[in-house]
This record gives sequence, C-alpha cells and structure tokens, in this order.
Amino acid sequence: MSANIEELERRRAAAELGGGEKRIAAQHAKGKLTARERLEVLLDKGSFEELDAHVEHNCTDFGMETQRIPGDGVVAGSGTINGRLVFVFSQDFTVFGGSLSERHAQKICKIMDTAMKVGAPVIGLNDSGGARIQEGVASLAGYAEVFQRNVLASGVIPQLSLIMGPCAGGAVYSPAMTDFIFMVKDSSYMFVTGPDVVKTVTNEVVTQEELGGAVTHSTRTGVADVAFENDIEALMAARDFITLLPSSNRSGVPELPSEDLWDRIEPSLDTLIPASANQPYDMHELIRKVLDEGEFFEIAPNHGANIVCGFGRIEGRTVGVVANQPMVLAGVLDINASRKAARFVRFCDAFEIPIVTFVDVPGFLPGTAQEHNGIIKHGAKLLFAYAEATVPKITVITRKAYGGAYDVMASKHLRGDLNYAWPTAEIAVMGAKGAVEIIFRGLSPEEIAEKTREYEERFANPFVAASRGYIDEVIYPHSTRRRIALGLRKLRNKRLKNPRKKHDNLPL
Ligand code: HXC
Repeated sequence: MSANIEELERRRAAAELGGGEKRIAAQHAKGKLTARERLEVLLDKGSFEELDAHVEHNCTDFGMETQRIPGDGVVAGSGTINGRLVFVFSQDFTVFGGSLSERHAQKICKIMDTAMKVGAPVIGLNDSGGARIQEGVASLAGYAEVFQRNVLASGVIPQLSLIMGPCAGGAVYSPAMTDFIFMVKDSSYMFVTGPDVVKTVTNEVVTQEELGGAVTHSTRTGVADVAFENDIEALMAARDFITLLPSSNRSGVPELPSEDLWDRIEPSLDTLIPASANQPYDMHELIRKVLDEGEFFEIAPNHGANIVCGFGRIEGRTVGVVANQPMVLAGVLDINASRKAARFVRFCDAFEIPIVTFVDVPGFLPGTAQEHNGIIKHGAKLLFAYAEATVPKITVITRKAYGGAYDVMASKHLRGDLNYAWPTAEIAVMGAKGAVEIIFRGLSPEEIAEKTREYEERFANPFVAASRGYIDEVIYPHSTRRRIALGLRKLRNKRLKNPRKKHDNLPL
C-alpha cells in the first residue's frame, strides 16, 4: 500500500474514532448509539457517502489549538433510504459534547445547500450541548447560518429532526424550525435553558426529563411529534416516515406499488357509528380501513389527541389524513388540536400532498381556559390553513359537523373539492338540545323535548346540506375507500392558484 493511501487510512480512522474509546463507551452506557452507528441504522446499507471528514475547528482560545478532532463533532453527507436520496448530519456527542463550532456549522450548511439544489430531504440527528462555548460569537454566527437555511428550506424540502441526546440553546432552535421532530425517551432533552439555570432564575426545581424530555414534549408542549423507546426504534421509524414524504415541493408524492384493492369494500364501516350520538367510537378504525394495508403513520398521537393527523397511502400514493377523534374530548376543536392540525395541513399543502379529512366534531371547546389562552387566534390557524390550501381536498362527514367547526374542517365553502357525508351525518349550527334551549327559552321540559325531536328531524341528517350542494354526495360508509380513491384519481391534475402575494399573514 502506498504511503499516501496509508496516510488517508490513518486520517479516516482518526475521524471515525471521534472523541475516543472512553467517550464512545460512555455514550453506549447511556443506551445511545454513536453518530456513525446511527447513520448505519438510518440509511440503506453501504449507501452513506461522507463529506468533510477532515474538517477541524479553527479555535485557538482556551487551549483548543491542542484539541483538534477531525470531523469536528458532526458526521455529514448523503445516503439513501429505500433507494431515495437524503442528506444527513449526525452530531457526535463524544467530540466536545456535539457542540456547534463555526466549522461544524459550515458542514451542516454545506449539505443543506446541496439538498436544496438537488431537491432532497435533510435529516438531522441532534445530540449537542449547543453553541461551542470556547468559540463565542463564531459559534452563534454558525447557528444563525443554519437557522437561515432552515427557513429558506422550509416548504421546499422536508426537514426531519431526531433529538437523540441533551439539546440545549441553539441546538433546539434549529430543530424547532424543521417540519417534524422525533425524540427518544429517557436519553433526549430539549430546553432553551437547563434545570440549573431554571433554578437560579425562577427558583423552580425540575428534572431534565420533566423540563424537556421526550414525554413532556410529545404530550404537553407538542414541540416533538413522536417519542420513541430507543435510538433504533426512532431511526427505523424515520426510514418509514421519510419514505412517505416527497423529496421536495417539486417532486410530487412518492408512489409505491400497492396490493390493496382500490375499491375494497368495508361492510363493518356501515355499523361504525354507535346508535347514540353521545357514544364515542375510534376514528383510527375508519382511517386504517380506508388506507392501503391499514398502514398509518400518526403525527403527535399524544398531543391534541382529539384530532388525528398522519400519513398513509391510497393506491400507493401518499395522502395526509386529518380526522376528529370522538374518543378524546368528543373530538372537539381546542387550542392544541387546532395548532397541531393547522401545521399538518400547511405541510401537506406545501408539498402537494392531498388531504383527506374525516369529520365528527361537536364544535370548539368552550371555557375560560380556552378563551383566555387565545382559542380565537389558534382556531383561526386551522381555518386559515384549510382555506389557503390548494392541494386536492376530500372531506367525509361521518357524524357531527356543528357550527364553526363544520366550516373549518375542509368544508365546501373552503374550496373542498369533494365533500361527502355518511347517512349518519348531522350538519347543524349546534346539537339539537342546545339549539332548542336557546331559540325556545322558557318552554317546559316536555315542550323542549318535542322541539328537540323536531330540530333533530330537520337538521340531524346530511340531506339539507346535500340539497344545497354543500355535500356533493351522501355515500355508503362501506364504499368510503373506493370513493376517496376515485376522487384522488380525478383530482390528480388539479390546478388552483392563490392570488399573488409576498406571503400571507397567518394568525400566529
Ligand atoms: C463546548 C461542551 C458543550 C458546549 C458540553 N461540552 N457542552 N463543550 N461547548 N456547549 C463538553 C463538555 O465539556 C464535556 O467535555 C462533554 O461535552 C460532555 O459534557 P458533559 O457535561 O460531561 O455531559 P452531560 O453531563 O451529559 O451534560 C450534557 C449537557 C451539558 C447537558 C449538554 O454538557 C451542558 O449543559 N452543556 C452546556 C449547554 C449550554 O449551555 N450550551 C450553550 C447554549 S447557548 P469532556 O472533554 O469532559 O468530554 C447557545 C446559543 C445559541 O446554544 C442560541 C441561538 C438562539
């Protein structure tokens, strides 16, 4: 072997060792994989092509000139997932805690710039103590360069962040501007400032897990979309997930061969709706029975669970599903559900993914907690998102579609392309009893009961809306998949443009 090649091999081996055996063992002891091991799980076997393995930091303060590790704490490059190109960076906690230096940032920016040019997703595996403290403003500048690219890439290429270690400071703001965040339970954290700073400033005592662990962020805050048990589970899920997404906003949705018959009939759906209007049923059952092979990748299943959002396929092509969930808070729209679904709808619209909406919604959640926390503005987000979306929109009302929530949930009036209802649909301003108690205040209980029956007969059905053309067709529940598949075929070449503008002013 020539001396040159030996030198290359020596340098590669040094880069692969990162922060050294001891720190790798410490990483493993925490149940975490190393940056390179993670890429092996994430990418197709042998597909990873590394860039910038020899990049080193340029810091000379605090004795840093004697501590240079090739790669500088991040492994970056490209590879494939199920044969499709993706760009990746994987921060190496064994090298200065995965902290971001100027050069580390330049590596991330390089792959982001290339991903933008060629139109491929960026997946970031984040495991970082934030800005490299020894570098001061140079590392802050590095972060801002990454942030700027996150924003320019938003809506052009999908950006997925996996949080796989403690992420503080700048290390949380870049993921926050990406499309989706996956976290790992018990080993990943996201906070702007950690428990020590919190104690100093507010005197609160809180653990890392409580403050910003995977459970906190995937249930309470909604900052993270899904929490996984360990690194491998998160990385395998990322593979499935990215396979559902388009490579860019110009690539069109991916299409896989599907064995599932497009016109599969599901007789069980004819009895999905319980006899009593107050009885819940699981909307997942309908979603899975409609999608190819019953496969559904749900986003934020434990936050705002009164609305279900996620991706699946029909005839092998990706669709976004939004559905009220009668099992949780009767499927009401509240702040969390509105924000969650609005962001999801906007993602689908940005990437030309058709949206299928299943509606069973009793309205917006009343109460001071909701009103004082701004349900007006947050509910408006979902209304805004559906109204501006120009992708194919197919809506099926299964049961309740009451009040403003009827309008919001991809109604005909918000440019719904195909608006279907099951015979069990009830489209009205509100539930019959509430309505009668308002318009016939002061009547006896017997009279109220009589008027309620009258109101139900008049409005607790889909035919008033259908007689006006607001519902295109009342369909048999068992034929829902067939009708949606046919609808999506029809709408494949849909073209609709919003008026020219710099950008809209979404009620943030
Ligand atoms: C340089 C860092 C570092 C950092 C960790 N290390 N964070 N080096 N800059 N930001 C180094 C440690 O010195 C240590 O080096 C190794 O990484 C592992 O760190 P430990 O503390 O031993 O690990 P652990 O106990 O697991 O704690 C991890 C941690 C903690 C929670 C991330 O290290 C931490 O709090 N770091 C600082 C976080 C922070 O305040 N970052 C700056 C945020 S400000 P050795 O050599 O011992 O292995 C910011 C500004 C951007 O990011 C804002 C933009 C909006």
